[in-house]
This record gives sequence, structure tokens and C-alpha cells, in this order.
Amino acid sequence: MPGGKPDPLIRHKHGSIGASISRIDGPLKVRGRATFAAEFVHEGMVYASVAFSTIAKGRITALDTKAAEAAPGVVLVMTHLNAPRMQSMPLFMTAEKAGGGDNLPIMQDDRIHWNGQPIAVVLAETQEQADYAQSLIRATYESEAAVTSFATAKAAGIEPGMFMGQPLKVVKGDPDAAFASAAVRVDHRYTTPRHNHNAIEPHAATVAWVGDELIVHDASQAVSHTAWSLGHIFGISEEQVHVTSPFVGGGFGGKCLWQHQVLGAAAAKLAGRPVRIALSREGVYRLIGGRTLTEQRFAIGAEPDGRFVSLIHSGAAAVARQNAFPEPFILPTMSSYGSPNIKLDVEVAYLDMLANTFMRAPGESVGTFALESAIDETAVALGIDPVELRILNQPEQDPLKGTPFSSRHIIEAWRAGAEQFGWSKRNPTAGKMRDGEWLVGMGCATATYPYHRMPGGAARITLTKDGRARVEIAAHEMGMGTATAHTQVVAERLGLGRDQISFDYADSKFPGVVLAGGSQQTASIGASVIAAQQVLVTELLKLAGNDSPIAGLAPDEVGAFDGGLAKLDDPSRHESYVSILARAGRDEVVAEGSAPPPLETMHWSMHSFGAVFCEVGINVVTGEPRVRRILASYDCGRILNPKTAASQFRGGIIMGLGLALMEETQFDERSGRIMNPSLAEYHVPVHMDVPRIDVIWTDIPDPHAPMGARGIGEIGITGVGAAIANAVFNATGKRVRDLPITLDKLM
Ligand code: MOS
Repeated sequence: MPGGKPDPLIRHKHGSIGASISRIDGPLKVRGRATFAAEFVHEGMVYASVAFSTIAKGRITALDTKAAEAAPGVVLVMTHLNAPRMQSMPLFMTAEKAGGGDNLPIMQDDRIHWNGQPIAVVLAETQEQADYAQSLIRATYESEAAVTSFATAKAAGIEPGMFMGQPLKVVKGDPDAAFASAAVRVDHRYTTPRHNHNAIEPHAATVAWVGDELIVHDASQAVSHTAWSLGHIFGISEEQVHVTSPFVGGGFGGKCLWQHQVLGAAAAKLAGRPVRIALSREGVYRLIGGRTLTEQRFAIGAEPDGRFVSLIHSGAAAVARQNAFPEPFILPTMSSYGSPNIKLDVEVAYLDMLANTFMRAPGESVGTFALESAIDETAVALGIDPVELRILNQPEQDPLKGTPFSSRHIIEAWRAGAEQFGWSKRNPTAGKMRDGEWLVGMGCATATYPYHRMPGGAARITLTKDGRARVEIAAHEMGMGTATAHTQVVAERLGLGRDQISFDYADSKFPGVVLAGGSQQTASIGASVIAAQQVLVTELLKLAGNDSPIAGLAPDEVGAFDGGLAKLDDPSRHESYVSILARAGRDEVVAEGSAPPPLETMHWSMHSFGAVFCEVGINVVTGEPRVRRILASYDCGRILNPKTAASQFRGGIIMGLGLALMEETQFDERSGRIMNPSLAEYHVPVHMDVPRIDVIWTDIPDPHAPMGARGIGEIGITGVGAAIANAVFNATGKRVRDLPITLDKLM
């Protein structure tokens, strides 16, 4: 905190923090004992299948559901004609716990707003029966003129883009004039396509009404938001909704509240039976928003010595009216480089389409493609090594806000990465390196993602007389290692062994509003547990009384060591938790604390950084691009668990590889229909596409973050698209500014 002291755990070097612990949920997962959302079972449960509209805009004039109703095992066909009355989803960010992906009426009327909108839900005794019956539903529509092409949408008018309540427009100095008079000018247009969410676990919820209480086993990165929002939708209190999500097979921004949980709960209410609603892979494409397309202009004006005098990053994104969520691609340009003149601007154009949403590093993932490609193009124009050009243009302080950086060791990351990758072996002239029938190239790019800590964090610690502690917090484990890393952190925070800690999470009955998004969960959990521990220590000092070795000490004079509390500068004054509770005659002590507001992000500019290097091969016969190796060097503060962190970085990098070379939602601009809603047609990297990926980091603690740790969830995808595009240029001399870089663009 401003004016405060750094988290003391930053100094702990030999305990649990920083240890390469295997996932504590690993044994459960490999034995199939981890229960995911679509694996909970209720007595009398039925299975749901969803029918989707095949037009983009208009109304349903007739729905023939007779054959479906008569099909074997069918319990209910729900349409707008019989669905219970409900409110629309409260759109994310419109209230503290609003978590909805759109704000449209859900099966309340005959209106169609996008191609793929749910028009009916079938419940049956088995999933197969539900799917078959659903296939028998026949809809008749009256179509209306829909805006389904980006060009038409732009012609109809562009508007300023907003992200998280802030306008996506910033101007510093006179960027147009500075660019016009710059000695070296680079000015290009970069385009990125739509991307769909493809978590290995498709979206699912198992839903039951018990009286007027709603029980939801969800696959969620937002249990508190989902509970509150479902309460609002069904007109019941938040306390009447219980959402849990113990295991999630990947979230990436897509696993918040969408229409399927609402439809499942509505159908369960109507049928009077518990419902499992597990979306098919196609269902995920029809119902769950992804990343929208962008068209970006990036212009750099530089002095002959390489110093930037003007940075212009502008363009447009396609959005839907039901949530108007643009891809905020200018975000990485806000803080990556210094320049006296900067202009950033995202505009939006409206289409009749599925609402889009957060998808891993919204903004930075495709924004760094334009930014870091343009930097590479500038390096070529200047004849300066691209690593040196980036280092030359590092800002002293936040280039827009003027605030100091909390901790910025990006130059160390660049130097260490270049050394380990062997950057000096690169031939800077394009098209000069060859290996058999492969042209070989090397490229690099900056990775960056902000540190966030959202308000609302809180945690409860229950210390029991046997010296064990249970921590409860409504946080999430989507496979990235949250439970493992925070068992480590809490053990260290309380001076206990990891086997004395139970870290319980992902339950809306637990304290805290802790979204697993924005790479902020670790900071939010960390700050919440610090707050709860302060309450716990105060309570324990009271209980310890006058006969304790720690009698008379103030809370900030004691720390947690060896299963108890001790005076910070005199560890011989120590009493164990077991002893304190025994003398006080207590079975347990419960302490709940709320994290302070995130003032650190106002006083410092806080970001994680990285340098991504890659080597590609381009087949001279077929044009096929292959990534041969990747090395990424990060500066993300303290790394809490190298094993889970490396895995998370690699996962992000692999997603970046997909973004660079293959991922593209095929959106039919005549009908507004997504044409490749399957993993057979929407390509993501498979093992054969993924080369060796080395990951290194500075491990320098950020003095202004809990545990010294900034987030690591999203930075992995950033920079990768540009690093690969820059390597492709180095290999071939061809500059591809339109993702994905498929072989037709290289032949
Ligand atoms: Mo992330 S896109 O904030 O889950």
C-alpha cells in the first residue's frame, strides 16, 4: 500500500513460497475423482439439449415441437411460449457482482438477435434422447435485414469504444504532426480475426431447485457473480442461490455467466427435476462469446537514432449491441514504450451477432501483434537490432499517467532471453538462413499484461485446536494451480506446514468477490488472506493473555512461525497455536478479513513484462509455417510455484501460437453464422504443432504486490503473434499483417 510496508512474505526464501510443488489436485484428476460441473448427479436428474436459431435477426413465427415432445424419454420442451418469466442477465460491470455476458431477454419472446440464439431446450432422461428430440424441432422465421458484415457495420457508423467503463481513447502531445515530420515513418494496417473459446471442458452446469433454493454446480471463474446474478434473474435473494465450481477445465475469460446456466435453471424449475446442461462443442460456439475481430492502424515516427517521437495505435472492432464489448487492443501501447506524442483510439461498429467477451489477455493478445510487428518493421527501416530498439525506447515512468513503475525489470528479461535463445546467431537480413527445404527465421516481441487487483476480496481463516487452518475464499481453480500455489502461500503466511492447511475455494457461500480474470486472482487472494490473518493475529493475542511469551505485543510486532506466533525481532518469544487455544479453552478461532481497496494501482504503474523469442521454418515448396522453438523470458515479480507457473506460461504461449498460425472463427458475413463450430474445422495447436518452449523469469519481487507476485495468467499469449510474424519475415522477407499466418499467405 502507498505509505505501507511490503508484504513480509517477499523476504521468505526457503519455505513453501517459490517451491516447485506438484498440483495438490493432480492425484484426484489422474484417477478421475475430481468432479467437474457435468459430473454431479442428482436423484431424478434429466439432461438438456439446446436448439439454436438459424437466422441472425427477426422473429420466430412458428415452432413445431410435437415430434420432439413425442420422442422417447422426453420430459419437457421449453420455448419462449412456456419458459418461466425471468429478468435478463445483469451485464458484467453494471453492478459489483453482475456477471452476465449479454442483457437480452432469455427465451421470453419471439425475437431473434443473433444466428445461434437458443430457441428451445429439450429435457430428456438421457443426453442422447435429448439431443435426438432436439433435432426434431422445426422453426419458421420471419427474417429482418441484419448487419452481418463488418464493412456494412462500419458504413452505418462507428462509435467510441468503451472498456470496463473507460473510453478507449487517449491523446498525448501532437502525434499526427510529430509523425508527419519524423525522420523515419512506418505506418501499416494489421487485422485479426474472431476467435472462439475452446476450453477442453465445454461449458456445463448441473442445476437443482430445492424448495425455492437454487443449487448450481457450474464450470465457473466467477461463483459470487453467478450466484448474485442468478438471484437477480429469478427474483430470489443471493443467499437462495448456491454456486460451486470445484474443478474447471479451462476458463480463459469464457466461463462466466451465459444463457445456458439460466436456461438450465429455468427448465429445471418448469420440469420440477434437476437438470444437467452440458453444451456440445457446437453449443459453445453458438452461445459463448469469444474474441472479436480487429482492424488496427499502427504508425511509428522515429528519429534516425531510433528514438520514438510518435506512436499512433487506432482502429476498430466489431461488437454486438447486447454488450458492446470491444477488443481493447490499445492497452499494451499505453505503457510499453516512451514517446512524447501518443494517440490511442478504439472505435466500434455494431453487428447483429453473438456477444463477444474476454478471451485470454483481451486487448494485449492482438494489440501486441500490431504494436510489436510495427516495432519490428521500424527496426528494419532503421537498420537497428529489434532487441536494442525496444531497450532504447523503454520509458522511465508510465508514458501516459506519469506515475512510477512499481517494478520494471524488462531489460534484464530481454538480455537474459536473448542470451539463452542465442539471438546473436540471427542473420538480420531476411531470407538468408536455410535448413534443407526450410527457410529459417528468428523473431522476437515484447509480452506485457497489467497487474490488477479488483475490489471485493475477502477470506475466512478457521484455526482449530489441533493447530490446523482452513481458509475459505470464493476464488477459482481452472486448472492453473490456484489451490496449490495458495496452499503454499497460506502455509507460509501462518507458519504451518502445507499438510496443515486446507484451502477451500469456488463456493459462493465463502467470503470474497474474487473473479478469476484479469490475471488478478493471486493478488486478490493474497491481499484477502493478509487481511484475515491480521484479524486472526489480533484475536490470538487477546486469547493468549498475560501468561503467554507473546503477552503485551501489538499485532504488528508478531509474525507467524513454527506453528504459532513469535515476536518478529525475538523469535524466542513464541507460543504455538495449539498452546494458545488450549489455554483459552477454545476449539477454534474464526477470523474474517476484507482486502483493502487496490490503491497500489493508482500510485504505481504496475505491469508484468516479458520478451518472447522464436525460431520458425517456412517450407519453400508448400509455404507451411512451423515454429521450431520458443523461449520466453518474463518479469512478473515473485514466482510462487515454478512448476505450475511454467505450465501456465507455456499454456498461454501455445494459445499465442494458435493465434499466430491457425485460430480463426469462420463467420459467414451473409448470414451471420459461425461456419466452423468444431475442433475439426477450427484449428488449435496440437502436440505436433508445439515445439520446445523454454520459460525463464527474473523472480524479482514487486514491493507493491502481495507476496511480491504479479499475475501470470494472461501474459503468456501476449507478444507471441508478433514474435512469430517477425520470425516469418526474417525467414522469408514476407510481412504478414493479417492473422492467422496460413500457408496461402506465404506461398
Ligand atoms: Mo481472463 S480473459 O481475464 O479470464
